[in-house]
Amino acid sequence: MLTSPRKLLPLIANHSSNRSPMTCKYRCGDACFHEVPNTSEGAYLGDIIAAGISRRSLLKVGAVVAVAGAGAATLGAQPAAAAPPQAARGLAFTPVPPNSKHAVSVPEGYTSKVLVRWGDPLFSDAPEFDPENQSAAGQERQFGYNCDHLDLFEIRRDEHVMVINHEYTNEEIMFPGYDPAAPTQDQVEIAWAAHGLTVVGVAGAAQGRPSGELTTVVDHRLNRRLTATTPFELTGPVAGSEYVRTTADPDGRTVLGTLNNCAGGVTPWQTWLTAEENFNQYFANADEVTDPVVRERLRRYGLPGGASERKWEAYDPRFDLGAEPNEVNRFGWIVEVDPFDPRSTPRKRTALGRFKHEAANIHLSRQNQVVAYMGDDERFDYLYKFVSRDQFRRNKPEHNATLLDNGTLYVALFTGNSPVEEIDGSGTLPSDGEFDGAGEWIPLVTSDEAGAHSHVEGMTGIEVLLFTRQAGDVVGATKMDRPEDVETNPLTGVLYVALTNNSNRGTGTNPGPDETNPRSSNRHGHVIELMETGNDPRAYTFDWRIFLLCGDPNDPSTYFAGYDKSQVSPISCPDNVTFDPYGNLWISTDGNALGTNDGLFGVAVDGEYRGQVKQFLTVPISAETCGPKVTETRVLVCVQHPGERSGATFENQFSHWPDGGTSVPRPAVVVAWRPDGIRIGR
Ligand code: FEO
Ligand code: CA
Ligand code: CA
Repeated sequence: MLTSPRKLLPLIANHSSNRSPMTCKYRCGDACFHEVPNTSEGAYLGDIIAAGISRRSLLKVGAVVAVAGAGAATLGAQPAAAAPPQAARGLAFTPVPPNSKHAVSVPEGYTSKVLVRWGDPLFSDAPEFDPENQSAAGQERQFGYNCDHLDLFEIRRDEHVMVINHEYTNEEIMFPGYDPAAPTQDQVEIAWAAHGLTVVGVAGAAQGRPSGELTTVVDHRLNRRLTATTPFELTGPVAGSEYVRTTADPDGRTVLGTLNNCAGGVTPWQTWLTAEENFNQYFANADEVTDPVVRERLRRYGLPGGASERKWEAYDPRFDLGAEPNEVNRFGWIVEVDPFDPRSTPRKRTALGRFKHEAANIHLSRQNQVVAYMGDDERFDYLYKFVSRDQFRRNKPEHNATLLDNGTLYVALFTGNSPVEEIDGSGTLPSDGEFDGAGEWIPLVTSDEAGAHSHVEGMTGIEVLLFTRQAGDVVGATKMDRPEDVETNPLTGVLYVALTNNSNRGTGTNPGPDETNPRSSNRHGHVIELMETGNDPRAYTFDWRIFLLCGDPNDPSTYFAGYDKSQVSPISCPDNVTFDPYGNLWISTDGNALGTNDGLFGVAVDGEYRGQVKQFLTVPISAETCGPKVTETRVLVCVQHPGERSGATFENQFSHWPDGGTSVPRPAVVVAWRPDGIRIGR
């Protein structure tokens, strides 16, 4: 039997999770310590229809209302859990107990190693990592900081290319003698180079090869760093508009850099989507903006009134809103990168809207239209999808390169099917036995070669794309508990939406619990299953139900899809999700509010083991588990922000992972596998 954690670390007051205040400061600009940016009233669907926005717009946007048909999956009743189980196929491992170790832990019979770390050279002309003597030029040729999303593309058997986001930097533990009030130009320029993306060749990833031989390839022909100063192209209707023209780029089409890239996804045409998340924190002096309309837009996106945390504005005026008010409009996008062409210019796809993008995961409709599901990671913000106008075509790269510029962006409106008085905030299931209901995708804007066509009263199409949160406010989208990663089960078509937490739910003047977000002060988060009508990702309507209410299984507010709670691992703050080849869901966590280390969990979503959450791995104390990739023979994760504990400095580190001794902590990619060669979880 699994046990709940007993060794609790001190929790941090006024915060929803075990995440260190230092992580809050550098990762998301203290988003959770500020006022909730969504102060909208939240119109009701009846009002929306009365305003003529919803159903008539549905007809205008030209997609086909899906009908339930052959092969349509449903969210029907699940059988009760059967007798004490062994495990689902692919999940036959002994769970790692909750712990607070300064180490990566994997199940008995497994092993792990670091594949690549911050500062590792990607090119033979790069300097060896020397934290006392860093340079921007060196960092541009080395693996960046705080790796988050990762994915692998096959080039040919045993030759792959790995793509990785570098979400943010923590200067206090990166640089000797760092003064947060007055960073030096060198330190700022190194931080620019440590942000962004890495593309790196990988050898030894072929099926059947021993994972111990997996290695990154220095000087691989596809190796590439993209940083906060690399040129990116804006595409779609916003490109060239007045809102994105700046002194340095009067055409409004070329942006320097990508920032705070969190998670991502891959496209069927083998490109990489990477999501710009907490971009707001890099821009200073919103208080200098006087136009009330612009001020409200900046407030809704959480722009700092005064100096930014990293003070980049001291060395590049584009980060000063007073000097360059449009630069911020060039961040907050989904970015498409071609990892197979190191000379290609990556594209910021404005038709997918602008918000704190967690990720974009693509699902093809049966007609080969492209549907991208996207969360906006902020308390009380929204879930979106983009449906392409055109169809994906195999071996037509030029055509496929236009798919994400033409289509319709929707926002989700969830409704519960239980009486509101039965949703009391405690997590107690309503009398029908499920937190569940129906939902509608409300169209916001349709983009094509002629521009952006708004479906939102009072906003132009361009405004909807740029200030998408406010469009969601106008149509009364459902305020969620921080929508993170969304992934489709490749075997069933059911979507899994991670809601990481929201300690403000039901507090003060904040919105109270609803059936979709049913716990007040939701510290541990939940996972929702969403089934598009007719199993068609283009559908306008869907059914949904809660799959997991996370937390300590001894906590009565938790729910594990009805599974025996004495047989599950504690789990808190679900963040990134992925599927293994057997159709099991894997969930990585960020900020475990149970006080122990973050980890990676596998859980069956169908059959007799549905809901049996099992912890596969834990990362070192103070780190976050990111970027999971699970194949038949290996598990890859990013270990983000090891050693990020308030009070830590370069000279007084909290962690020395992974190199030990007195070394600086180094964010890294870790691979885990079974040395006996047997497949994961068999
Ligand atoms: Fe970068 Fe939403 O986590
Ligand atoms: Ca219900
Ligand atoms: Ca994340």
